[in-house]
Amino acid sequence: MAVITDMVDLNIQDGIAVLKIKNPPVNALSKGVRDGLYEGVKQANADDSAKAILIICVGRTYIAGADIKEFGRPPQGTSLFDVHKEMENASKPVISTIQGTALGGGLETALCSHYRVAVTSAKFGLPEVHLGILPGAGGTQRLPRVVGVEKALNMMVGGKPVNAKFALENGLIDEIVDDLFEGGMAFAKKVAGKGEVLPKVRDYDEHLVVAKADTELFDRYRKKIARKTRGFDAPEAIIQCVEDTLRLSFDEGIKAERNRFMKLVKSQKSEAQRYYFFAERLANKIPDVPKDTPTIPVNSLGMIGAGTMGGGISMNFVSQGIPVVIVEHEQEALDRGLAVVRSNFMRGVKRGRVTEEQVDQMMSLYKPSLNLEDLADCDMIIEAVFELMDIKKEVFTKLDGIAKEGAILATNSSALDVDEIASVTKRPEWVLGTHFFSPANIMRLLEVVRAEKTSKTILATVMGLSKKIGKVPVVSGVCPGFIGNRILFKRGEQANKLILEGTMPWNVDDVVYDFGLPMGPFAMADLAGLDVGWDPRISKSQTIRDVLCENGRRGQKTGKGYYNYDPETRAKTPDEGVKELILEFSEKMGITRREFSKEEILQRCIYPMINEGARILEEGMSQRPSDIDVVWVNGYGWPTYRGGPMFYADTVGLENVLAKLKEFQEKDQDDFWQPSAMLEKLVSDGKNFRDLN
Ligand code: CAA
Repeated sequence: MAVITDMVDLNIQDGIAVLKIKNPPVNALSKGVRDGLYEGVKQANADDSAKAILIICVGRTYIAGADIKEFGRPPQGTSLFDVHKEMENASKPVISTIQGTALGGGLETALCSHYRVAVTSAKFGLPEVHLGILPGAGGTQRLPRVVGVEKALNMMVGGKPVNAKFALENGLIDEIVDDLFEGGMAFAKKVAGKGEVLPKVRDYDEHLVVAKADTELFDRYRKKIARKTRGFDAPEAIIQCVEDTLRLSFDEGIKAERNRFMKLVKSQKSEAQRYYFFAERLANKIPDVPKDTPTIPVNSLGMIGAGTMGGGISMNFVSQGIPVVIVEHEQEALDRGLAVVRSNFMRGVKRGRVTEEQVDQMMSLYKPSLNLEDLADCDMIIEAVFELMDIKKEVFTKLDGIAKEGAILATNSSALDVDEIASVTKRPEWVLGTHFFSPANIMRLLEVVRAEKTSKTILATVMGLSKKIGKVPVVSGVCPGFIGNRILFKRGEQANKLILEGTMPWNVDDVVYDFGLPMGPFAMADLAGLDVGWDPRISKSQTIRDVLCENGRRGQKTGKGYYNYDPETRAKTPDEGVKELILEFSEKMGITRREFSKEEILQRCIYPMINEGARILEEGMSQRPSDIDVVWVNGYGWPTYRGGPMFYADTVGLENVLAKLKEFQEKDQDDFWQPSAMLEKLVSDGKNFRDLN
């Protein structure tokens, strides 16, 4: 066996040159892999005892892409293009054997092999779009030549991997094998020395001829993806590269792809998206809870509440085959809740994601109950009852007497003191918060609230479990509103002041929407319902919200709130009456209204969020700034191309943020703007939030 580099070795077995890549955990195309592949293919090609070259990866996956950590650094070693050229031009067949995930540069490398075989569980994708870049190693030119233009666009602009069945049906792979090595060897022997011209993807043109005939294909595609890709640069660049496959030669197309790739990779948007990729993974790490902390199995869930939250939360568990005992007060609420769950699952059937049999199977995992005692055997119990401390305490007192020893007790509270809730039990170390976001079956964020006494085992268990049920967990300390809502409250407070002092809800919303969030604070309030937490019995027209609710304008569900809503399309339009009402209210409060520029509106909405984020860090309620960014991206739709509020603050310059906070404090004579000590310190030390990650 010849060691080519520390990441690649070469071995001739039964007349086949086996190039083995080992670069755990995901066999990324680091320098050692590129150098090794280049040299290994060269040596194997020159070795007369080898009739074919088999590329195989050690561990759980084939190459999962370029080494993202190398981006932004000066290039070193062999370029991926040279590796690909060596493979494609080899005089003997090169076969890639694929397991796990062939992603990005990995799939692009596979596409430069003459043949590809894979195990059934393998996935294939070009997900670079999620990093704000495009497949920059020939992917935009090769993939459309294999699977066709429209499918290639879907794979590259959507960034979602496809499975082995799709890959086989669409020519991405040549065979599905049972055993990676044995199957790969058998295939290699079959094609070795056949003397046929070796197939090169770059020469395929069948799909391009078909696509050329469809003159509206790209217009149609652009329209289809416009809403989803708003604000991102990579999708359009990918489309242009694919258009090139129809108008340029392969080599010219590669050159144009390179130029667009370089532009994107240097952009701040891509930097933000790459930062975010690592931020999400970093959020899993808890400094004082090491990776080898023992965890306990969670094979059953008890869910208290079958309403919107309880139903949604429980869906995540049955989707993973975990049985759920779901408890309600009354049969009617139980029936209604489970009917909603079923109809939510059935939407997946309509979209072809699951079959009706699978829905039946998931529904069969529910055990409906009207009795808390039925939770006695559950490994974990989550309550999603009314958000009032007394009610939560009552539930936990009862649970303490019912739950088996060793059961995890979790509250889905969105803002309450988890320590206080835990204190009513005799086992506070088994208690923590699991704050799901609505709709809980869809939203990826899970704030895992670590109470003072929560044990490390419980924390590690719930972090692992979150990943299993498809959530992105972020640890939060106990503070009102935890990380996400605490920051949201600050933005809301300022947004309300803005409309009192001079602007209108739609102006604020437009600015926030243009910044990249899916909706502004007022549209969001309408969606959530203006009467959440509003009590008609005590309402005395003290806020604009009070007045709107008193007038029956309670948000989208009543067809009107800050906006009017079209009953069919739910499209929103500003309302003259609301404008009058706001003007009257300001006058009544004796406020002299003034103009706000778009820039000032943005600063007044976003900078309090940054300041509150800094306070959260100061108090140790978030482990690191990037965790706050993960919360805002996943829970509130902060655009990934702006990294998150803390990343964004760094791009604005912390000294600029601080100066503005002080300016507003002076102007408004309001302590709301008091800069956090953490922000002051970072600025005086010449540091950024990123330095704290
Ligand atoms: N480069 C560097 N590190 C990577 C990486 C990459 N491409 N992919 C994953 N990692 C690291 C992660 O940061 C993580 O590190 P830590 O353990 O230190 O946190 C570790 O590998 C394991 O990753 P995950 O926790 O994500 O493991 P998983 O099993 O849940 O998922 C995966 C595996 C599906 C491969 C996922 O990691 C992933 O999606 N990776 C990115 C794939 C990608 O985007 N590829 C394209 C790269 S860009 C490119 O290739 C450009 C080009 O055109 C040449």
